[in-house]
Amino acid sequence: MFLQPSTALFSLLLLKLSGPSIALPTEQIPLQNGASDNIQAVRTELIKAEIIPTVVDDFLPSLTLSVSWSKKEVQLGNTIKPKHVQDAPSITLHDETSPDSHATSNLTYVVTLTDPDAPSRDNPKWSEMCHWIVANVSLSQDKYSIFPIPFINLEEMNKVGEGLDEVMEWKPPGPPPKTGKHRYVFLVYAPRNGTQEPLHLTKPKDRQHWGTGEERGGVREWAKENELVPVGANFMYSLNKKQ
Ligand SMILES: *[C@@H]1O[C@H](CO)[C@@H](O)[C@H](O)[C@H]1NC(C)=O
Ligand SMILES: *[C@@H]1O[C@H](CO)[C@@H](O)[C@H](O)[C@H]1NC(C)=O
Ligand SMILES: *[C@@H]1O[C@H](CO)[C@@H](O)[C@H](O)[C@H]1NC(C)=O
Repeated sequence: MFLQPSTALFSLLLLKLSGPSIALPTEQIPLQNGASDNIQAVRTELIKAEIIPTVVDDFLPSLTLSVSWSKKEVQLGNTIKPKHVQDAPSITLHDETSPDSHATSNLTYVVTLTDPDAPSRDNPKWSEMCHWIVANVSLSQDKYSIFPIPFINLEEMNKVGEGLDEVMEWKPPGPPPKTGKHRYVFLVYAPRNGTQEPLHLTKPKDRQHWGTGEERGGVREWAKENELVPVGANFMYSLNKKQ
């Protein structure tokens, strides 16, 4: 149900790329409703995976986040092997609130990765584990938002070393043996006061508990301290092959 509209969107995009053509009425419906469907789908999946309210308080996303490596892509709860996620991914943000998904703000965003299931979902005594913080992430200027985003925009993606400000270096997911599936949660934050100035973010003094020293201490506390509000999310599962 969630994949179908994006497939239709993708065909429509291909139609557009291949020159002027008239889309069939059946193909225009997902395009009109696409944005709000994407946003609802993100929230629904976050609730289903109990990321809302465990990691983040309930919110309605306004951006979609694509996270990808050369061969894999995060798709709201798919499972990816640790060996495929060793390097920092490429990320793209799409504004889902503007009618044609054009970037409407000059804000820069912050993207984080947290593991609330360290060392396991049943025993989160090291939770949350901070895996990544990058700032200075800007919106994609692409005209159409496709979610999940196909691999056609790789050159335009935000990458570490090309404008991204890495506050906490990428620590690849490394779920220990026999700890089941971990949720790896990517969150997008915006400055609460809407400032377009560079942000001066604090760096957690530890990855474990995001430096709060408390079980379950995590990205929520860090975001609050830095006056950031959640505006988007994506997540995957990963597990050790020894179970
Ligand atoms: C974004 O920045 C550009 C160039 O500085 C400016 O022309 C534009 O009005 C800004 N847009 C918003 C929404 O502030
Ligand atoms: C933020 O991005 C802009 C534009 O890509 C770049 O000029 C600037 O150096 C970046 N700032 C940091 C702190 O990385
Ligand atoms: C916005 O909040 C940041 C802290 O996140 C602060 O440093 C900055 O001065 C504030 N800017 C304005 C215009 O209020």
